[in-house]
Amino acid sequence: MANPLASDLDAMRRLLESQAHPGRYAQRFHVVPPVGWLNDPNGLCQLGDTFHAFFQYSPFNAEGGVKMWGHVTSPDLVTWSYEGAALYPDQPFDVSGVYSGCAFVKDGTMHVFYTGNVKREDDENYDYVNSGREANTIHVETKDGFNFGPKRVVMDNSDYPADVTEHVRDPKVWEFEGRYYMVQGARKQDDSGEVLIFVSDDLAHWELVNRVTSCTSFGYMWECPDYFELPDPDPLHDHKLLRVLSVSPQGLHGGDWDRRNVYQSGYFVVRGDITGTCWLKPFALWDAGFDFYAPQTFETAGGKRRILIGWMGMPDEPAYTNPTIEDGWQHCFTIPREVTALHGRVRQWPVHELEWHRTDERSATGELTASDTQTFDLLVEGIGDETFEATIGGGLRLSWDGDVFRMVFTDDKVGAGRVQRYEHLDDLTNVRVVGDTSSVEVFVNDGELTFSTRYYPDTYSLSVSSPGALIQLWGLDV
Ligand code: FRU
Repeated sequence: MANPLASDLDAMRRLLESQAHPGRYAQRFHVVPPVGWLNDPNGLCQLGDTFHAFFQYSPFNAEGGVKMWGHVTSPDLVTWSYEGAALYPDQPFDVSGVYSGCAFVKDGTMHVFYTGNVKREDDENYDYVNSGREANTIHVETKDGFNFGPKRVVMDNSDYPADVTEHVRDPKVWEFEGRYYMVQGARKQDDSGEVLIFVSDDLAHWELVNRVTSCTSFGYMWECPDYFELPDPDPLHDHKLLRVLSVSPQGLHGGDWDRRNVYQSGYFVVRGDITGTCWLKPFALWDAGFDFYAPQTFETAGGKRRILIGWMGMPDEPAYTNPTIEDGWQHCFTIPREVTALHGRVRQWPVHELEWHRTDERSATGELTASDTQTFDLLVEGIGDETFEATIGGGLRLSWDGDVFRMVFTDDKVGAGRVQRYEHLDDLTNVRVVGDTSSVEVFVNDGELTFSTRYYPDTYSLSVSSPGALIQLWGLDV
């Protein structure tokens, strides 16, 4: 490693990783940082037979710090191997952090685009919104995900519109009819969020083609945008393609937002052409649980499936202290979820490869209890008009009363400060819950609604009650 800053960061990272002891809440099959802090999934892609995922990584501080890209690979989206760090903040244009971005695969080359974050040395006149900050768009190529070419700045703040603040970031690239498109999230000077859309013919020169926002202001900043299209097979739905713009808005207040997380992630269905005339349908939440933010999607080779991975974490939540901080690490990814469209909405479902790891099947009608459920996969089907209730790890309750689906911590230790999340739901047909040592992901009605949370039980047990429903439970051996 020729760059002395990168080689020293590399040596420090390796030293800390060699001393890591993740402790009792270590996850079995979720991507975690070996030590320190993890946030957004970055650069998700498939290259050859291998899936690559990168993550916002601060190995030096479990409560966040300077960001680099950690790297994991997988043959099957379920078993992941840690591969070290891929990109360090080692250049003047990314020195305050290798921020979030994507990996666009073209002819066997991974084109990585990310935001080079620069915060200039403190000056009392800087507010770090309109001054003191740089958001550089960086392009770097790799043929294997391990050896990277030179970092090139393809855009800086002077390339973004004059009425946006210095908060512009998180490029995501796709190809359409031979041209390349990029979305970036932005905060406008009037404190509203929007998505900037750029076009390129060579991945090096980019030009602004559109700016997309909602009819009325919806938060002050939109982070981590993503755009994709899904076939919508519903014959009653008159649009054959569902066009989806995913964003993570910050600054939503009032009404239902006040009982939800501090920041949100969700999607707008787009009517029209995202690069030209279009409008956004109402925002739908990706996940209504406590821990979900900044998801990214990618297409598997040949465009067969679209997979979404979220950050199972939430920044800036005052009522919560993650107990794993004591063990020197914090946060993880969600399990990869396949996304599909139905009735003009997006559904999320755990990738089917997870089912290969099911062991020890138990099933019952109406009621089931079990212990030794450190890792589990639970499926409850045929719920009909009856109620549904489940208690997990002695302190996390899921319930549906015909009107509202709730996730409630009944034991403060298990919830580490969290209390409840809920959404209105008129009909409940099925619930799937995937549990790892310190996380629970709930998929309601074939994944139309999901709730994800970290949890910290003393003992692992499960009890489910739903009169007349078929309840199936497996262990997961990954
Ligand atoms: C979202 C985010 C991104 C940014 C990254 C920095 O969680 O704030 O907008 O690129 O995290 O770690």
